[in-house]
Amino acid sequence: MFGQIYMGCCEIIIMFSFTRFEEYKKTAEWLLNRTKIRPIVAIICGSGLGGLADRLEDSVTIKYEDIPQFPTSTVQGHAGKLVFGRLVGHDCVCMQGRFHFYEGYSIHTVSYPVRVFSLLGVKTLIVTNAAGGLNDSFSVGDIMIIKDHINMPGFAGQNPLCGPNEERFGVRFPCMSDAYDRELRLKLRSTAEAMGVAHFLQEGVYCMLAGPSYETIAECKLLQTLGADAVGMSTVPEVLVARHCGLRVLGVSLITNKVITDYNSEEKANHEEVLKTTQERTKLLQDLVCGVLKM
Ligand SMILES: *[C@@H]1O[C@H](CO)[C@@H](O)[C@H](O)[C@H]1NC(C)=O
Ligand SMILES: *[C@@H]1O[C@H](CO)[C@@H](O)[C@H](O)[C@H]1NC(C)=O
Repeated sequence: MFGQIYMGCCEIIIMFSFTRFEEYKKTAEWLLNRTKIRPIVAIICGSGLGGLADRLEDSVTIKYEDIPQFPTSTVQGHAGKLVFGRLVGHDCVCMQGRFHFYEGYSIHTVSYPVRVFSLLGVKTLIVTNAAGGLNDSFSVGDIMIIKDHINMPGFAGQNPLCGPNEERFGVRFPCMSDAYDRELRLKLRSTAEAMGVAHFLQEGVYCMLAGPSYETIAECKLLQTLGADAVGMSTVPEVLVARHCGLRVLGVSLITNKVITDYNSEEKANHEEVLKTTQERTKLLQDLVCGVLKM
């Protein structure tokens, strides 16, 4: 279904492809027909953090390409899947492989799964990502609880809630000052303390950029001035849609690299460094998420 937006005296036609409520419902119903799991928690696994899905018990795996209306991966070799199962006694659904705006998906498509999750009965969304550290006091390998976000694509008109509002999901103008659930953040902190890993823990503001290029030095300095502690290319669209439909959100960033802010530096941002750090910390992050679910 296509929508048109009229602005002022001149007519600007923006082609959005809006998904109707019935289509989300059809996807949700189709999924419920294929598993006995009734998830109350959804986990979106960030780059290299998909291992959590392997911990699910009695799991049922469904490829994105098999799910009606579901976005399919445009990238060769990135076959994403939903894994349903039980994690420390809770019925969960895990997204192994998320959709990124920089892959060419619309901002609406990126967050499509979250509305499906809400129709499945999910009440809590846990999002993880790999992010670059902007805050000088962060180290590579730190785990940052997301306290708040800065929606840079939103400043440029890319918000997944743009378009006709579907009241059955939520209100036209949803509040975002409480986007990241305080109680869940405290639970993560207590879990880290109990596990003796609180020294890896940070809390801060996540800033989303569209990507796929990493930031310039001037951009990093700008983001630091704006009060961002970490920067990445995901998470915010899913969180906006989750809050719109009333899900509680816990967001966690793994600081996989530190951004470069010195013109004399010989270092370069590289994806290999990100993957290496992710590999080293992925188990700890999984343990922390399980710890939160246990409380
Ligand atoms: C789900 O299963 C029911 C009962 O078998 C069937 O009537 C319905 O069409 C199915 N829904 C979808 C979307 O597959
Ligand atoms: C960086 O992180 C530290 C420790 O979490 C925090 O106290 C500080 O406010 C953050 N921001 C800046 C700009 O240093």
